[in-house]
Amino acid sequence: MPRWTILAVTITCALVISSTIHATDADSIARGKKALETRSFTPAPWTFQAYDSAWENWQPKPEKQPADYDQAFRQRYGLHPAPFDNGKYPMGLRRGAFFGLPGIEGLTTDCMLCHGGSILGKSYVGLGNASLDIQAFFEDLNLAAGITRKLPHTFSNVRGTSEAGAMAVYLHSFRNPDMSVRLVNRHNWPLPDTLCEDVPAWWLLKKKKTMYHTGGADARSVRSIMQFMLTPNNGLAVFEKEEPVFKDIQGYLLSLEAPKYPFPIDAEKAATGHKLFNKKCAQCHGTYGKEWTYPSKIVPLNVIGTDPTRFDGLPKELGEHYNQSWFAKEKPSGYKALESAGYQAPPLDGVWATAPYFHNGSVPTLYHVLNSKPRPKIFTRSFRTDESDYDKLNVGWKVQILDKMPADLSAHERRKIYDTTQPGRGNMGHTFGDDLSDAERWAIIEYLKTL
Ligand code: HEC
Ligand code: HEC
Repeated sequence: MPRWTILAVTITCALVISSTIHATDADSIARGKKALETRSFTPAPWTFQAYDSAWENWQPKPEKQPADYDQAFRQRYGLHPAPFDNGKYPMGLRRGAFFGLPGIEGLTTDCMLCHGGSILGKSYVGLGNASLDIQAFFEDLNLAAGITRKLPHTFSNVRGTSEAGAMAVYLHSFRNPDMSVRLVNRHNWPLPDTLCEDVPAWWLLKKKKTMYHTGGADARSVRSIMQFMLTPNNGLAVFEKEEPVFKDIQGYLLSLEAPKYPFPIDAEKAATGHKLFNKKCAQCHGTYGKEWTYPSKIVPLNVIGTDPTRFDGLPKELGEHYNQSWFAKEKPSGYKALESAGYQAPPLDGVWATAPYFHNGSVPTLYHVLNSKPRPKIFTRSFRTDESDYDKLNVGWKVQILDKMPADLSAHERRKIYDTTQPGRGNMGHTFGDDLSDAERWAIIEYLKTL
């Protein structure tokens, strides 16, 4: 499909020479951190009781509420302890106004459901949550809260990924461009259900000129990251009131830094890898250190060759609607949705901690990023994040490889298995490491640990 390639290239070049994002002042960063850690921006749909009784919907059903229920709940859905005060609740779930009613509290979600991850048993705000079963989480809490309506679209087909794009399509479909709500007559746009989106680490945002996997938005846009507030209860006035808060939240995101690789690194090997990286990889992924560079490059689909579903998958109606709506009219000159030619080559800071790899999380380790032939086709993993779950050799998650998808699994168990033959989950492409020798690959991997 023709994709306004020339326009995308022009836009990319224009953005590269335009100013980089400046981290905002310390007060704004502190306000943004506090807002993320203490506030919810959507009304709470669930009672507190729904959390306490969610286990009654687990299959096989436990005889009674599991001992250490908070931990059992986190493991069931792939959630992590909050590294800030969040009561007994995991990152991503928090108290909020029940159906928006003042004075009555219930439970709701926040950004960290997807953007709060864990590595080596430690939680980080801003690390993508690669363990999450968001489908089961919503289904079970809805049932436990007495909400019997089915989810309006697929939230996830495989653990650690989500159909965030479909959520955006669905939420925007209730709006007119002026943000008024069309409750009965929502736009009938096609809802994608196989985009299989892995969550980018927030600490990479500060280097980016464009964000999202396809570079579909200007990284400076504040309104773009407010799309998760689009539940019909939130009117235009709420968005206008919260825009400065999201400006602070963006400031906080821009202040985040990648965690450092905590195990020994072979300095000599890494130095060899550094040279190879600069020759083979830096033109797309940039250079690192104090004088870093980052080209914010969108690599055309026919060059990158990774799964095209996410690229093709958002309906054009969404972009057209977005560009006429409040979201594109940010002061002073607005940030429209950008046409893209492919996928953005991400910065690789902290890449040791952000497995699985590619926009669809289809490749579990760095070794397999750099060698496309032996990439596992059907695999599962523990979805825990302890040192024993981490593959220090290949760098990423330890996986168990399966010959085929076993029959008769519950939907919850099926989502633990990543089947790269399924739509949106292909593990092809990015063959730039295929002509390296294994020694060269190990050297590059050693260097990647230092980023
Ligand atoms: C349902 C899971 C989910 C929730 C909740 C969520 N996000 Fe995201 N976010 C994603 C996914 C997935 C992407 C990548 C989307 C893509 O390009 O396909 C993303 C991308 C982003 C990006 C761009 C990152 C980059 O480098 O390209 C920012 C910034 C962001 N989200 C901020 C937020 C904020 C702020 C909130 C809360 C208001 C939030 N997100 C809530 C899943 C989520
Ligand atoms: C022609 C540009 C290009 C070159 C050259 C290139 N890459 Fe990439 N790389 C990309 C793009 C684009 C993606 C994102 C693909 C996707 O998500 O579908 C990517 C993804 C990755 C990822 C996964 C990042 C993540 O968080 O999911 C790693 C790791 C990576 N590249 C490492 C390398 C290394 C090491 C080299 C050199 C051997 C290299 N790349 C060469 C464009 C390139």
